[in-house]
Amino acid sequence: MRRKLVVANWKMHGNLASNQQLLEAYIKQLSSFKNTDVAVCVPYPYLAQAQSMLQHTNIAWGAQNMSKDAEGAFTGEVSASMLRDFGATHVIIGHSERATAYCESDENIASKFMQAKTHGLTPIFCVGETLIEREAGVMQMVVSKQLEAILNTHGAAVFANAVVSYEPIWAIGTGLAASGEQAQSMHEFIRGNIAKLDNAAANSLKILYGGSVNPQNAVQLFAMPDIDGGLIGRCSLNAQEFEGICRVSA
Ligand code: 13P
Repeated sequence: MRRKLVVANWKMHGNLASNQQLLEAYIKQLSSFKNTDVAVCVPYPYLAQAQSMLQHTNIAWGAQNMSKDAEGAFTGEVSASMLRDFGATHVIIGHSERATAYCESDENIASKFMQAKTHGLTPIFCVGETLIEREAGVMQMVVSKQLEAILNTHGAAVFANAVVSYEPIWAIGTGLAASGEQAQSMHEFIRGNIAKLDNAAANSLKILYGGSVNPQNAVQLFAMPDIDGGLIGRCSLNAQEFEGICRVSA
């Protein structure tokens, strides 16, 4: 039985004062949740703040991106070991907002995934199709190509205890979440692709759903057998709503 995981993706929001309030509310409201794991992925400058506020709580923290390289002359980049220095345990890899705005290739994303694993971070690897791709009926082809970038070079075993987040691009920030059935069908497809190569890895893999999750639609989504939790954008900026989502998964 996989434990559910709910991850807040704050994106580029917050400041020291507002983060303090939000994290205090998270700590207060989420401390009693024993059956679900919770993590918050903050902008880099606030990792120290997350570490100092969350270190003795049941809430883990992490980042929203990371370098594909271990060290070196890469101005502006942040390495996996730097994240580890601040106690980070999770890192989002290949979020579509980055893949489109910063032209991240599948190969770069695969390298980041491996860097995270090598340094003991749990990668949260985002996959998902555009609306045009869904309407053209090629969403499974798109997602399997995204998975293959890792599978073809590194095999399926690397997915053991990793996290994949299915985030249909048309559902992100639009208020239009995938239905439970749409999401379940893709999650089953993703797990099946890994299971063909490594059944144990597929069973341990958590597959989150992301895209306009709120406390209401989480009920249907989180009831699906292959949906192991959520990656939450907008609603994670409101402690009440985030708690509502975590409560559904608890
Ligand atoms: P929203 O929850 O705001 O749609 O964002 C989802 C997302 O991009 C999580 O990574």
